[in-house]
Amino acid sequence: MAGTMGSSNSGHKTKGNATAVIGMQWGDEGKGKLVDLLSAEHDVVVRYNGGANAGHSVVIAGQRYALHLIPAGILSKGTLAVIGNGVVLDPDTLLKELDTLQSRGVDTSNLVISANAHVVMPYHKDEDAAREDTLKGGAGESPLTEIGTTRRGIGPAYADKVQRAAAVRARDLLRPELLRARIAQACRFKAPILGKQPDVEAMVATATQWGQRLAPMIRETTYLVHDQLRAGKRVMFEGANGTLLDVDHGTFPYVTGSNTGTAGIATGAGVPPTILTSAIGVMKAYSSRVGSGPMPTELSGDTAHRIRERGREYGTTTGRPRRVGWLDVVALRYAAMLNGITSLSVMLLDVLAGFDTIKVCTAYQLADGSTTDRFVADGPELAGAKPVYTDLPGFMDEIGAARSLAALPKPARAYLDFIQEKVGVSIGFVSIGPDREQTIIVGA
Ligand code: IMO
Ligand code: MG
Repeated sequence: MAGTMGSSNSGHKTKGNATAVIGMQWGDEGKGKLVDLLSAEHDVVVRYNGGANAGHSVVIAGQRYALHLIPAGILSKGTLAVIGNGVVLDPDTLLKELDTLQSRGVDTSNLVISANAHVVMPYHKDEDAAREDTLKGGAGESPLTEIGTTRRGIGPAYADKVQRAAAVRARDLLRPELLRARIAQACRFKAPILGKQPDVEAMVATATQWGQRLAPMIRETTYLVHDQLRAGKRVMFEGANGTLLDVDHGTFPYVTGSNTGTAGIATGAGVPPTILTSAIGVMKAYSSRVGSGPMPTELSGDTAHRIRERGREYGTTTGRPRRVGWLDVVALRYAAMLNGITSLSVMLLDVLAGFDTIKVCTAYQLADGSTTDRFVADGPELAGAKPVYTDLPGFMDEIGAARSLAALPKPARAYLDFIQEKVGVSIGFVSIGPDREQTIIVGA
């Protein structure tokens, strides 16, 4: 496949009417930018997983928007934005986000929230923090360390969903009696974990206020999405977090609480797995990770510093400096396989300008000395894997002004060819800067 970049049959165009945009690494791949770019050709954008742990930033005409819960597609005029049942909804964050968008002149009247989405309550955030603090630094001889969560209550909210007994769903915010009963019950369950009895009345009052503001948006969304699809509307599913943070297929326990990839779309939006007509895999030209857990290609020192500064690798949600490393095509090949990726979007290629050599991890050497080109979906086991690198020539010139593949330096094109060949999926988009215009659409 080498040398095929730019051919018109690169197959990247969003075919049919159901597109998934999926992060292929540990989050922060640039999904927000891609969703924004594709919004124009979609009528509906659906978030199906995660919560306010996500941080999707979009730059339009030099203005930066950071979204955590509202689908980034809302920034495109007229797009119907849906928060699906699989999302854990933090009303505090959502209402702040709505206020900010409205104050900046963004039309938010097209936002719909699934009545079945679970609500992140204040005690979920306290529980998240309490569990993390307990794990911090490892207790005694214990090999366990904190997960490094965003402390947004994601894990505890999903746990309560599965636990069922005292979970609060968006529809419950509109049912006063049930709401009070659920909150009171939840507080009884939480008291031993939190070491205090949460104030039930204060929480009921807060949740009631949330309900009053959110009432016009809380709807049944499963039929809504199906109706849109049947009417021939184009629907985009906006993934949050990343494939390697998937609760089933990621680097457990250093993962988030949901199915982050295409598998999560079925449960998190109520559509059959066969619905997707394209799945765009969003990946950085290197690796990054926030929080704990293994990252085989992690860098330190000058190289890490240069990538972090050039890539502005500080969390959108927590402001934490991100860990950075070389590209890992073992992980990417796995993510492409799991999600059925039909087209790659390579982001932040411009960050790699100025390195003599660019390294790419093409296999792992495992603790027992063997070598594998298959991903290891387990935190402790992956921690023992060492990267096997292929060295590629770097490129020195800045590339932010390039508007075609032909305008890229030869080594940059060779790097893209290498990715395409090793991951086994063709590249549809290359991003060379934060602005909407700084995107090369391959074959366009
Ligand atoms: P976007 O959508 C980067 C990471 C956290 C932590 C782990 C578990 O911006 O790509 P959680 O709060 O979910 O229980 O934390 O998952 N994490 C993300 N890292 N981007 C994200 O989302 C993330 N969502 C979760 O840092 O390591
Ligand atoms: Mg993020």
